[in-house]
Parts: sequence; C-alpha cells; structure tokens
Amino acid sequence: MLRRLGKTDLFVTPVAMGCWPIAGITSIDVTEANSLDTLSAAFDAGINFFDTAYVYGYDGQSERLIGRALGPHRDRIILASKCGIHWEEGKQVKDGRPETIRRQCDESLRRLGTDRIDLYYLHAPDPETRICETAEALRGLLDAGKVRAIGVSNLHTLDRYEQFQAVCPITASQPHYNMLQREIEADQLPWCRDHDVSTIVYWPLMKGFLAGKLSRDHQWDPRDGRQKYPVFQGDQWIKTHDFVDQLRTIADDQGCTVAQLVTAWTIGRPGITVALCGAKRPSQISETAAAMSLSLTEETLQRIATAIEERGEVDSRAAV
Ligand SMILES: NC(=O)c1ccc[n+]([C@@H]2O[C@H](COP(=O)([O-])OP(=O)(O)OC[C@H]3O[C@@H](n4cnc5c(N)ncnc54)[C@H](OP(=O)(O)O)[C@@H]3O)[C@@H](O)[C@H]2O)c1
Repeated sequence: MLRRLGKTDLFVTPVAMGCWPIAGITSIDVTEANSLDTLSAAFDAGINFFDTAYVYGYDGQSERLIGRALGPHRDRIILASKCGIHWEEGKQVKDGRPETIRRQCDESLRRLGTDRIDLYYLHAPDPETRICETAEALRGLLDAGKVRAIGVSNLHTLDRYEQFQAVCPITASQPHYNMLQREIEADQLPWCRDHDVSTIVYWPLMKGFLAGKLSRDHQWDPRDGRQKYPVFQGDQWIKTHDFVDQLRTIADDQGCTVAQLVTAWTIGRPGITVALCGAKRPSQISETAAAMSLSLTEETLQRIATAIEERGEVDSRAAV
C-alpha cells in the first residue's frame, strides 16, 4: 500500500493527514486537546504521512501539536513541512529569500521536536526573489542533512519547475486537485510523471464540500472563511450539491461514504501519489483513512466520470 516519494527511500501512505485545520485559523471550534486526538486518530488509522507548514497557525501551532502528539512515533512517520511564507499583521506574506528559508527551517525543526524534516517544500514562489536563489537555499538544507527531500507547491508554471529543478532536485509537487478542479492534468501532472516527481494533492475534499456533510440549507458561522468563495454561493452551491447527491447514490451502491468515495477516486487517479485529507476531528480522518482499503469497481468509476462530466469543471480562479 505504501507509495514511494520521487526517487527517495521514503515510503508514504496514499492518504496523508493535512494539518491546516487542527491549527484553527479557519476551523471553527478546534481545541488543542481535540487536535491532539485527531493526530493520534490518524496514526491509529494507519496514516504515516503528516503535512504541515510554517504558517499553519499564527504561531506555529500545527507543527507544535505534531511534535507533541507524534514525537513518540517519530521513526514511524514521514513529516512534511513548508517554508517561504510568514504572517504579518494577520496576512500571509511570501518570502523566499535564502536567509528566511534557512531560519524558518531551524524554527520548524525546533517546533516539530525533530532533527530532520523528511520532505520540505517551498510553500509558494516569492515574486520578489529569483526562484533559483530560493532553490539554492533549499539545496543547502538538503546537503546539510536538515531535510531529506525537497518539494515545491503552487508553482503553477512548468517554467518555474524547470528553473527550480536546474538547481535543486524536486521530489514532490503539491498543487490543488479534486474531482471538479483538475487543471493540473494538462501540464503539471504529466511533467511530474516524466521527471519521477510525486504529486501530492491538497483540497481533495474541496474544503469539505466533497465530504458530503454540508446540507443545502447550511447556516455558515460568520467566522467560517469558506462562505466567501463563489463555489460556496448561489448557483455554484446548488450545482455542487446536485453533484454530491449523485455521489451519495454511487457511494451507497459501493458501500462507502461520499468522503471515502472521493478520496479513493483521488488516490486512484493516474499520477496522483497522495491525497492530503484535512481534518479537525478524529472521526473525519478515521473516515477518510478507510478509503485506503477501498477498491472502486469499473462501474463505479464510470458513474463518477459521468457525474463529473455533467457537473462540469469549477473555475479554480473563482472557486478557491
Ligand atoms: N500547499 C498549499 O498551499 C496548501 C493549501 C491548502 C491546503 N494544503 C494542505 O492540504 C490539506 C487539505 O486541505 P484542507 O484541509 O484545507 O481541505 P480539505 O482536505 O479539502 O477539507 C478539509 C475539511 O473537510 C471537512 N472534512 C474532512 N473530512 C471530513 C469528513 N470525513 N466528514 C465531514 N467533513 C470532513 C472538515 O471541515 P468541516 O468539518 O469544517 O466541514 C475539514 O476541515 C491541508 O490540511 C494542508 O495540509 C496545502
């Protein structure tokens, strides 16, 4: 079941836990005790791969929680974190300067309570810093043994992949991807396959919409940031609910939940190595983790393909 990351000797489960929701910036009603339980539930459910970042939590909360909950299991898990963004007055600021990259790595190591990060990503390119300079700094961390492999996220153009790879070997790429947002299939995914780069996708559940638990008359808590996105409003809201209803019928026939159907579909796609499933409750990650042992029938896959075609793609610029 384990999958290899790029050309490394790191092997990961196809479902990883996305550790943004446990830090509580956009998740409502998340407590520290609850987040520690969610991390333990992920480990107990067989997940060995945990994805965090310098900016998950205004003050590194996600990394600290991982260090506390999973420290005793350090040698049995694969830890991924990211650098190149920090918080300034409540806003995320991109900063890919070499000195920032080196400092953030040291801080992340301390917060995670470990001597190495298994997979260390550039979170997003900084328009003010040449990408080869950022890549050079990451290469230095690799050479120093502080990190075991390098990843990139949100690069968007193949040009940037090429420039980065010319300086530092890329093991994994982390773009967004889900049933309704599949634009990476046109270029990034084939590039990664051609270069033995693993593709590890975020938002497989489309920020929870494809988990199938949001009701049509869901009343948003004013603090829930999702309602600002067009896909959670108006016509898009109705169309996506119609789509989720179709998935529910297919999931019932397959004997699984919608979240499991969506996750199993995602990790079964050609070229997709891992789905990063975010969770803020133990039950959520236990549910999505179970998708790792689910095999979708040809008939199920065909019905999903038809439903996706009828729904049509969501414009990523408008959606998230
Ligand atoms: N590289 C990047 O720039 C980037 C960007 C975004 C995310 N990421 C990574 O990707 C991970 C995934 O993204 P995400 O966490 O934002 O979104 P996601 O995985 O698409 O959705 C997670 C949300 O879905 C809901 N959910 C999950 N499982 C559920 C279940 N079984 N039943 C019902 N609801 C369920 C929960 O929200 P509610 O309970 O509130 O509905 C949860 O917070 C992140 O945690 C992070 O590690 C990376």
